[in-house]
Amino acid sequence: MRAKVRKKIKIMTIFAVCMKKKAKNFENIRTPFYYYDMDILKDTARKVSELAGQYGIEVHYATKANENARIVSLLGEYGFGVDCVSGDELRLALNCGIAAEKIVFAGVGKSDEEILNAGIAGIGALNVESVQELYIINEIARKYGFTANVCIRVNPNIDAHTFRYVTSGLNTNKFGVSESEFDELVEMLMQCGNVRFRGIHYHIGSQITDIENVTRDLCVRANKAAAWFESRGLKVDMINLGGGLGVNYDDPYAEPFPDFGLWFKTIAETIDRRDGRTIHVEPGRSLVAQCGDLITKVLFVKETEAKSFVVVDAGMNNLVRPAFYGSFHLIENLSAEERPTLPANQLYDVVGPVCESSDSWGKGRQLPLTVRGDLLVIHSAGAYGQSMSTRYTLRPIAQAVYSDRIDEAEKECRIL
Ligand code: LLP
Repeated sequence: MRAKVRKKIKIMTIFAVCMKKKAKNFENIRTPFYYYDMDILKDTARKVSELAGQYGIEVHYATKANENARIVSLLGEYGFGVDCVSGDELRLALNCGIAAEKIVFAGVGKSDEEILNAGIAGIGALNVESVQELYIINEIARKYGFTANVCIRVNPNIDAHTFRYVTSGLNTNKFGVSESEFDELVEMLMQCGNVRFRGIHYHIGSQITDIENVTRDLCVRANKAAAWFESRGLKVDMINLGGGLGVNYDDPYAEPFPDFGLWFKTIAETIDRRDGRTIHVEPGRSLVAQCGDLITKVLFVKETEAKSFVVVDAGMNNLVRPAFYGSFHLIENLSAEERPTLPANQLYDVVGPVCESSDSWGKGRQLPLTVRGDLLVIHSAGAYGQSMSTRYTLRPIAQAVYSDRIDEAEKECRIL
């Protein structure tokens, strides 16, 4: 136990040193901004690429987690393909140099134009989410003279034990085709001369922390479904298990990336790879969450009868997860680290500038005495941060600042 505490203190000390360095480097950069630590990103990508090679698993990065072109291109250099969910994500992947056959495309509402562009590009698989969609893909392919590669996204009605907003494999969710529709689906597949059936696809939820059990259950179901399709004469060449691996938001220092080894090992031990069938995954969050932080400046410290509020310049428009899902992100005061003596911690509600009460970064957070002008870091913001940002109340989009290009960051515009 003591050793564990010592290890943690050591990790925290190393990071406290890094933080000091960061606060200094960040002094004149215009806030709020996303800070991407390219070393963490590369370490994560290297680890995943090694493990994927070892277990023979193909990785498609789910770009919806972060559509920053530099990040997508870098992940492509590590050999990853892409999972996209819109026409512009497809275009982004192609522009970032991802080979078409390494791209898969999911989503319950693909437009005709998106289907056409994906088909013409010759992507690895359109993940089909309904019998009607299969029919439409075939019609479009026939009209424009191509053959579309398809996987069937199966909704297995499995509980991923995650929070309700990001569960997607239950029969009450809009995603995928249920097993009860398989007969109808096979009948349709038999009539579709312009689609090539490649296999099955799943994605049952996000921020899954019970990796072993959930993954094993999913693989067992996928094996059964694959055997069923093959018994009907449809060869299953690929099984795509989707993404969903959760990250440690409570203590990002302790776990800069989740246990990819356990994920891949569980898949490799359980999945049926008969006849050279290929196995695919689509991680989003787990590849990019911990390399990104949102850096924000304290505008005011407001004391009321009930509370002490720290009002910062980053709002829910920059990172919507806390307001949208009540998500927890660790917050630290970078500037306080620089002060020679640290006064005792205080409890603050850290809030943004947007006129919504849900524009709050955390209630009752313990921080060192915080003053106007301090820089705060909101951790683990690399996934579903920048990609979900908006211009609500016409607030600007936060710039991306990279650890290896910090000199290129936009400087603060001083008006006083
Ligand atoms: N594949 C498909 C088909 C997906 O829909 C998703 C995410 C992924 C892969 C990647 O899942 P990941 O590895 O990132 O868990 N905005 C929410 C998360 C929504 C996830 C949507 N689908 C959040 O901020 O928690």
